[in-house]
Amino acid sequence: MIKFPGDFKFGFSTVGTQHEMGTPGSEFTSDWYLWLHDPENIASGLVSGDLPEHGPGYWDLYKQDHSIARDLGLDAAWITIEWARIFPKPTFDVKVKVDEDGKGNITGVEVDEKAIEELRGLANLAALNHYREILSDWKARGGFLIINLFHWAMPTWLHDPIAVRKHGPDRAPSGWLDRRAVIEFAKFAAFIAHELGDLADMWYTMNEPGVVITEGYLYVKSGFPPGYLDLNSMNIAAKHLIEAHARAYDAIKAYSKKPIGLVYSFADYQPLTPNDEPAVEEARALDYSFLDAPVRGELMGAVRDDLKGRLDWIGVNYYTRAVLRRRQDTGRVAVSVVGGFGYSCEPGGVSGDKRPCSDFGWEIYPEGMYNVLMRLHERYRMPMYVTENGIADEHDRWRSWFLVSHLYQVHRAMQAGADIRGYFHWNLTDNLEWAAGYRMRFGLVYVDYSTKRRYLRPSALVMREIARQKAIPDYLEHYTNPPKLG
Ligand code: BGC
Repeated sequence: MIKFPGDFKFGFSTVGTQHEMGTPGSEFTSDWYLWLHDPENIASGLVSGDLPEHGPGYWDLYKQDHSIARDLGLDAAWITIEWARIFPKPTFDVKVKVDEDGKGNITGVEVDEKAIEELRGLANLAALNHYREILSDWKARGGFLIINLFHWAMPTWLHDPIAVRKHGPDRAPSGWLDRRAVIEFAKFAAFIAHELGDLADMWYTMNEPGVVITEGYLYVKSGFPPGYLDLNSMNIAAKHLIEAHARAYDAIKAYSKKPIGLVYSFADYQPLTPNDEPAVEEARALDYSFLDAPVRGELMGAVRDDLKGRLDWIGVNYYTRAVLRRRQDTGRVAVSVVGGFGYSCEPGGVSGDKRPCSDFGWEIYPEGMYNVLMRLHERYRMPMYVTENGIADEHDRWRSWFLVSHLYQVHRAMQAGADIRGYFHWNLTDNLEWAAGYRMRFGLVYVDYSTKRRYLRPSALVMREIARQKAIPDYLEHYTNPPKLG
């Protein structure tokens, strides 16, 4: 029996674009909503054509999902509050005190009670109240609650990705390229902390800023907004996201004393040959820059006191590894990903290492979970939560192996000293997988999108055994090492 501590959390999560819509009146507009509806994106196959309004309908069916989660023994959830739902109209005119350092950096944003009142005048109060009902329902069932403030969707008054791609960021609402996004995000964070802070056990400001910038401005075929290839834009967006985290951290702290984290997606980078080690360092440097800033204040070779000391815990999303090769040229993007491993395998196939791969073509590589957690532990020595880990596996062939093998590696890292306090499986129910749509099914629970009915997959029962006992019992230990194939 592999035991987790009694207060270790097992959880699930929800994101507006991915889970909320699907019942009449549950829609909300955002940059992602525009992006997924764009006829050119659909015609070119950049996005699947699956629309968020056909989703699992958590907005109205939340009680059912909470009840299933509790039956499965899950005692924690991170739930996203959608910025675009709360502020469908611009908040630019709400006056706040902004400090700047003369070098273009936003070093402070103070959202006082007067500003909160003005924000309330602009907010969609029905949506705010509805979120209160959702969160309260989860809390009433004894659930631990983490509130997430940004999971990729932005209000359209701040980001019109179609216009950015067509006309350029100077002639369109440009999202994280616009420094005002830092200020507006701080307002949103303060408002939510003020209004819903009584329900939160913890917070995090944002999910995977590294994905937002790389998929948005570099890997433009990934189907992420705004699909505008420009490395300079990528760097600007990165800087603004880092500042936005710090300013939101301060804004939340003004109204809530609860711990605040940041969630990042970590692949286990590995060099193809020893000569490729610099590519690994390059890739890790980008990841670490998002944590070095809030922990140590380091950003682009300088130390900024206004960024430093603004992280209470780290959220780790882990799915697989990435095998890297160094390119001939030098510089930040001199890295190529080697096919046949990690994220770059055949859907449903077998990796170069004979490991099974998901419907998405992601290799099952549980040891990477241990490697990532240990590297973060050694570098930052902070409390960590595994905030996402899961597999697109419609027929549930591999999910039990995936779940148990990754939890086993989490436990190994804890034995080796890492301070890991919970594991959130991605995810409880099937949901909209962004550009890839509904074909990628990550749920422990299958969703029939036409009826919205939920059906447990067998792996849900494996999750239940583990979550209820807070242990991997002996009779599940055979899942700790997924088989090699072929
Ligand atoms: C994202 C989720 C997404 C999952 C699977 C993570 O990067 O935070 O929104 O569904 O990966 O692709």
